[in-house]
Amino acid sequence: MHIHSEFHRFLKRHDKEVLLRQRGIVVWLCGLSGSGKSSIANAAERVLYNQGHATVILDGDNLRTGLNANLGFSDEDRLENIRRMAEVAKVFVSQGIITFVSAITPRGELRDLARGLLGEDLFEVYVEATYATCEKRDVKGLYAKAARGEIAHFTGKDGSFEPPQNPALVLNTENTSVEDAAFELLEAIRDRINLNPSL
Ligand code: ADX
Repeated sequence: MHIHSEFHRFLKRHDKEVLLRQRGIVVWLCGLSGSGKSSIANAAERVLYNQGHATVILDGDNLRTGLNANLGFSDEDRLENIRRMAEVAKVFVSQGIITFVSAITPRGELRDLARGLLGEDLFEVYVEATYATCEKRDVKGLYAKAARGEIAHFTGKDGSFEPPQNPALVLNTENTSVEDAAFELLEAIRDRINLNPSL
């Protein structure tokens, strides 16, 4: 391949982290549609913003309107969806940015792919809520549609969801507020984003 990467000439990750006074991380939130991934990412990001941190949210629904607009919900397309999200996350984390990824990421194979690309930077969070709970919330009306058989491969119905085996953190949202879940998440990553852990 005639590609000569230019990484070596650019400023290093550490230079960016010193500027931003933080360490980069990828907080990958997986879980059923409606489990609370985006709400938790949003709440956590606002707290970090108020503390002066640089963050970004890569949201599955949002990216599917642009970068991933050509992808559907087959196993193959979800794999490509996750690959692209992980590659974009990798760019952000390489700039020292605290990066939230909010994507169902329904199978172990998909999470393994993300881990392969992100390695130690990946902080895997399982946002746990039962299908019945998500169906009751049904913020987007998709569960009702799925029940009528109008959505193919719907996650948790005719598309599989394998709970993660060994996530860094589980946030069960059945009986927890978004704010409390976000607080718990921020506590869990506090040392990881601190540039000077001794301070
Ligand atoms: S993933 O499986 O590839 O990780 P992603 O998080 O990008 O999924 O997109 C999931 C979002 O797409 C859901 O929150 C929902 O709004 C929408 N959606 C549309 N069709 C489906 C489907 N068949 N299964 C799950 N979510 C769907």
